[in-house]
Parts: sequence; structure tokens; C-alpha cells
Amino acid sequence: MNRKLKVGLLGATGLVGQRFVTLLKDHPYFEVTVVAASKRSAGKTYFSTVNDRWKMNIPMPEYIKDFVVKNVYEIDTISKEVDFVFCAVDMDKTEIKKIEEAYAKHEVPVVSNNSAHRFTEDVPMVIPEINPEHLEIIPKQRERLGTKKGFIIVKPNCSIQSYVPAISALLKFHPTKILACTYQAISGSGKTFKEMPEILDNVIPFIPGEEEKSEGEPLKIWGHIEGNKIVCTKTPIITSQCIRVPVSDGHLAAVFVSFEKKPSKEEILNCFKTFKGKPQLLELPTAPRQFITYFEDEFRPQPKLDREMEKGMGVEVGRLREDSLFDYKFVCLSHNTLRGAAGGALLTAELLYREGYLD
Ligand SMILES: NC(=O)c1ccc[n+]([C@@H]2O[C@H](COP(=O)([O-])OP(=O)(O)OC[C@H]3O[C@@H](n4cnc5c(N)ncnc54)[C@H](OP(=O)(O)O)[C@@H]3O)[C@@H](O)[C@H]2O)c1
Repeated sequence: MNRKLKVGLLGATGLVGQRFVTLLKDHPYFEVTVVAASKRSAGKTYFSTVNDRWKMNIPMPEYIKDFVVKNVYEIDTISKEVDFVFCAVDMDKTEIKKIEEAYAKHEVPVVSNNSAHRFTEDVPMVIPEINPEHLEIIPKQRERLGTKKGFIIVKPNCSIQSYVPAISALLKFHPTKILACTYQAISGSGKTFKEMPEILDNVIPFIPGEEEKSEGEPLKIWGHIEGNKIVCTKTPIITSQCIRVPVSDGHLAAVFVSFEKKPSKEEILNCFKTFKGKPQLLELPTAPRQFITYFEDEFRPQPKLDREMEKGMGVEVGRLREDSLFDYKFVCLSHNTLRGAAGGALLTAELLYREGYLD
């Protein structure tokens, strides 16, 4: 490797941005050179604007404290100081689309946590273990944008990152229908218990936009490239309910699934155990060694006990059994701000780097 690539963090002051700051400390491929946020934070040091709202359970790394925060709209300046950016801003979708495209057109690849471009037909939405072949659409996207280097890639919503890996391990049995009910942590909305006291002793039965994402995004991930677009698969049919629960981190999903060719329980467990993808083969720095871990203990997985497995990049599964309406049911867990947000985006960038898309 010649030199570390320079990274800009758009939305660096937010919850996902803070995760990036911790994950990029001493990263072997990348180093942060720019942090950017809204005009409220711009011009201040990272420490002075974030210290009172630092939400990580480890201290703010020293390396970032004296960075002066830029405004994400300083696109001309920022694009000269970075090789690519991670984007995690909380803004109107139309505005996010414009900003991400503007960076790409300034020849800056954008690895996005936002939902704005998830259904743009030539923008890959990637879980690196599952659909790395979707990177092959990038040259087509560059043609549309008129860029040599710039492009946009997105990671999917955090709600699907536990059950989509588990079902992906079983695709050879052709799942036909899935019911997924998610029990989602409060950090998924960027909040802590202090900022969301109404969740204590409570559950909130609605998370705006989440069910549509949970039902639609897996179909793009399991889709295929046709010409200059990614075509969604039509099956399996997915229905979901997404509920906010009083948990700090870690989204749990109760999953029911039927198959065209019903596997045995042993076959399913073996598929979970042996499922791996390019991140494991390439030994990417952020890749979990064991992607899916199955618990025999009926009381697991639990967010509090198990969300940090494989540094928050693993997926945990338990309670696999036959069902009276579907073929099988089980429970899955993933860390929403690690695998489901900054960690997933970082793994995607590591894959892009190793596959030559960031050169
Ligand atoms: N939390 C999760 O688990 C999770 C998971 C997956 C995806 N995401 C997505 O990631 C994105 C960020 O989420 P988050 O939880 O980190 O949100 P957050 O904590 O509210 O942070 C939002 C960030 O956006 C910046 N921002 C807000 N308005 C802006 C504006 N007008 N111009 C420029 N920057 C602006 C904020 O800067 P200031 O500090 O200056 O206001 C801050 O850096 C969202 O799109 C979210 O849907 C979140």
C-alpha cells in the first residue's frame, strides 16, 4: 500500500459521524482529513462543538479534537482535500441527493448512510458479504454523471441488517415469503435515553418510513444488474412491522420464513455457520471473522449481551424452530450504528479500496 486515502466525514458531529470518528482512528487504509456538518457547527473545533453531545461509550479520540469543522456545502474546498467521503447527514432527502451528486461530480466518491439514493437505479446498495457484484454498476453510473472517479454508493437501512444476512445464507432454498418484526434501539433515531425519556417503560409502535425500507430494500440487495440499472428481485414477498423499544443499541428482528424447497434445521444451521463473503476472503480490516453466529441458548441473542460480538459487525441468530403458518421462525440481532451504519459503510469502503474503485 502506498499511502492512506484521505477521508472526509459529512455529518461528522452526529451520532453516526461520531462512530466514524472512533472507527477511523488508526485505520490501516484511511485517515480523516476533513470533518463537516451544518453551519451551526462550522468554524468551531470538533471538540468544542461535539464535547457536550459526545454519545459514544469510549472517549473522543485525541486526533480529531482540534479539527475545525467545515460546512458540508464547501464542496469546492472539501473535494480538494479528500480522496472520498462518508456521508451521514440528517437533512431533507432532496437536498441530500443534490449534495451527494455534487460531491460525485467533483470526482469525490461518496459512501452514504442516507436513504436518499437507495433507489436510484444505478446506485449500488451494498452489504459487502452479500452483493459485492453490484459494484460492477459503478462504471455505468460514472457514465451518467460524466465523471472519471466520482460515484455514489449506499448502505441499506439498519433495520434489515440482521435478517437479510440470515436469509441470504438460505437463498439456495428459495425463500418465498418473509414476515419480519423489528424491535429497534433508540440510537437508530440518533437519540440517547436522556434525549428520548418517553421511551422509558414504553414501546412506540411506529417508526416513520421504516417498514417500507424493511420490505423494499432487501429486494434491491438480492437483485441483479441489467444494462445500466440494478433490477429488484420480485420474490420473496416481505411484510414487516417496526417498533421502537427501550434499548440503547442493537436492533432485534423476529423472523418467519417459508421456502420453495424446505430445508432441514441442520441444513439451516450449517448455512449460517459457513456463510462468508468477500470481506472474509479478503480479510478486510473491519470484517467479522464469523459473520453469523447461532446461539443454542434459548434466551439469546440479547442486545445488551450480544450486540458487540465481532466488534459490532457480526449478526447473531437464535431460537430457530418450525412454525405452524410459515416453515421456520427465528430471532436475529445486529448492532445498528456499527454493522447497521458507520461500520457497514466502512466495510463497504474497504471493499471498494481493495477492488480498485477508490484509485
Ligand atoms: N443512527 C443510526 O443508527 C443510523 C443508521 C443508519 C443510517 N442512519 C442515517 O445516517 C444519517 C445521520 O444519522 P444520525 O443518527 O447520525 O443523525 P444525527 O445524530 O442527528 O446527526 C446529523 C448530522 O447531520 C448534520 N446536519 C443536520 N442538518 C444539516 C444541514 N442543514 N446541513 C449540513 N449538515 C447538517 C448535523 O450537523 P450539526 O451537528 O451541525 O447539526 C450532524 O452532523 C441519517 O440520514 C440517518 O437516517 C442512521
